[in-house]
Amino acid sequence: MSNIKPVHVLNGPNLNLLGSREPEVYGHATLADIEALCRDAGARLGVGIVFEQTNHEGQLVDWIQRAGREASAIVINPAAYTHTSIALLDALKGVDVPAVEVHLSQPAAREPFRAVSYAALAAAGSISGFGPLGYALGIDAAVQLARARQSKPLEGN
Ligand code: DQA
Repeated sequence: MSNIKPVHVLNGPNLNLLGSREPEVYGHATLADIEALCRDAGARLGVGIVFEQTNHEGQLVDWIQRAGREASAIVINPAAYTHTSIALLDALKGVDVPAVEVHLSQPAAREPFRAVSYAALAAAGSISGFGPLGYALGIDAAVQLARARQSKPLEGN
């Protein structure tokens, strides 16, 4: 199996509080538990994982731009910025790596304002409602997308 650059797993605001934050919505797994699950998925697939969380929109923009240079794919849970951030949408559109959007909950089944996802406009696909498992599914999808791109012959020349 060909080697690919790492998958960057980026997490937005308030996800550092997982475990104690609205457990009836988000469950009891902590962000550290999810990071361990992501690293297991990466090891299983033979790909490195860079795992980040921030409460700041601009930091996510910087990390998406860095992923454009250093990652084979992005798995992103933009949290509340999913529903508000044109800056994140533009950043995702501005890099030439596939992105998979992940949510622990099923935003479309919650308050109406969560039905809108700017991130989905730039993502290759979205995984919602499976709790932490969604991250493993997202990494699996991201690696398949990255490997498919790598094995595709160069276009245009
Ligand atoms: C979330 C869903 C968002 O609507 C919410 O703002 C979050 C978490 C999720 O993982 O289910 O912070 O992205």
